[in-house]
Amino acid sequence: MCLATLLWIIFACTRATNVGCKITTQGSAETVLLTGTILTSEGALHDSHILIQAGKIACVGKRCIPEAKTRKATFVHCTNSVISPGFINLHEHIDSSTINPLLDHGVKVNHRHDWRMGARGNERRETDINGSAIDAVKWGELRHIFSGTTSIVGGAMASGLTRNLDYVAGLEAGLHNPSSTWAVFPLDDANGVLRSRDCDYGPNATTSETAGRIYRYIAHVGEGVDAEAANEFQCLSSETYDVTPAPAGGGLSYDIIAPNIALVHALGLTEADFNLVAKRGAHVVWSPRSNVFLYGKTLNVTYLLEAGINVALGTDWLPSGSATMAREAVCALSVTKKSYERAIDSKTMWEMMTINAARAASFEEHIGSLVIGKLADIVIFSTSPSLSYYDPFARAIYAPEENVELVMRGGKVLVAGAGLEGLATGACESVAFGEVMKTICVEEELGASYVEFEKKLGGVYPAILSGVPPDEPSCEPTR
Ligand SMILES: *[C@@H]1O[C@H](CO)[C@@H](O)[C@H](O)[C@H]1NC(C)=O
Ligand SMILES: *[C@@H]1O[C@H](CO)[C@@H](O)[C@H](O)[C@H]1NC(C)=O
Ligand SMILES: *[C@@H]1O[C@H](CO)[C@@H](O)[C@H](O)[C@H]1NC(C)=O
Ligand SMILES: [Zn+2]
Repeated sequence: MCLATLLWIIFACTRATNVGCKITTQGSAETVLLTGTILTSEGALHDSHILIQAGKIACVGKRCIPEAKTRKATFVHCTNSVISPGFINLHEHIDSSTINPLLDHGVKVNHRHDWRMGARGNERRETDINGSAIDAVKWGELRHIFSGTTSIVGGAMASGLTRNLDYVAGLEAGLHNPSSTWAVFPLDDANGVLRSRDCDYGPNATTSETAGRIYRYIAHVGEGVDAEAANEFQCLSSETYDVTPAPAGGGLSYDIIAPNIALVHALGLTEADFNLVAKRGAHVVWSPRSNVFLYGKTLNVTYLLEAGINVALGTDWLPSGSATMAREAVCALSVTKKSYERAIDSKTMWEMMTINAARAASFEEHIGSLVIGKLADIVIFSTSPSLSYYDPFARAIYAPEENVELVMRGGKVLVAGAGLEGLATGACESVAFGEVMKTICVEEELGASYVEFEKKLGGVYPAILSGVPPDEPSCEPTR
């Protein structure tokens, strides 16, 4: 009998690591009560509730049951799963989503123009958009939705699917004008001009007046590791660095560094530069995998965090970056350890993927955390045995995609795992995520079923990525 009891306990414990979520009372589709471990900036709240009502969060904590009963909610109980705000990916080139990752030639360059334009004797590796741009954007947004990301800043948009924080037309229900602005060439240097002692870039470089009028400017600055990359920051952070106009127009330095600016990459900046960024309340968007793959290194992010800079994570793009936010987090952790011998605790990493990103894009009043009044952009992750020893934040941010149990944007269910099919509404289909089936409800927004759409694209880089994505760009620092 003793042995039987012991076996039963072992059995129960083994099962407990994987039990996940289930619907315990099927009620209204508009009102859902989630019970489980909720991730907040104050820590993980165990055995707590979130009440979702008409697309928004109506209650959080231990006292939501009476209201849920009054409203005839559908009750969902999660064991060993974690409930997180949907991830917010602050940097993507989403129209590159049907391109395979670049092959690793082992060559690291010093500046983006080296690989973009083949500058200074380097190989040109810029890839054109593959096939239809709008199909590529939809495909990329699906890839992010499936891995728990509900908002992106990606330079192109499809309606529905992820929220596009850089397009008023792409914000989706609950968010309103104004949107952020995504910019690749604030110095008007698309033609590949490199400068190191002056600001003679293009004639239409961003001035302090232009930048000051932009609600939130999320711009590539200093993408490289050389003096030319560092120079870009000088030209955007000083009114006196270059006061001599260029003959063809432009050529002056400006100081645009302010709370409405988020610097994408910022790899060429010095510690003194980051001190200025911190002092001015500007933000930084960090894409470690793409940095490491292209340039061999990335930011010493703990320096930025200790200086008080709001840092948000972003995947950059499929050719040299991470396919999902989880893979970006895995890279961010490992490269910070290898290059700087520093750890990033999982709550800090999670904040870079949620609330920090919402702040950098200026939507923190509506998304980025699970508090009353915010939109119900929610993702739930089950805990596979390999993650069961980790803290609740790690179980969310490092989860493989097959652990995604629910993805909801403004209360609308887009992905539902086993046991939660009853939450799905509208045109849904059952699709394999590795070895597990999930229900996805994207047909209305996609304009086709997922399966038809995948067939039409015919063999492009997958949008469902269970385990480690194929041909993933390396995150091994080389300098
Ligand atoms: C472009 O898309 C086709 C499928 O339409 C795919 O076979 C091919 O590998 C893609 N090209 C690149 C460079 O990724
Ligand atoms: C200059 O840049 C602004 C955006 O910063 C853009 O709206 C405008 O069209 C550009 N003008 C030219 C001549 O390229
Ligand atoms: C990285 O930043 C930390 C501060 O968090 C600092 O102590 C350390 O010296 C920096 N490392 C390098 C190599 O710059
Ligand atoms: Zn970029």
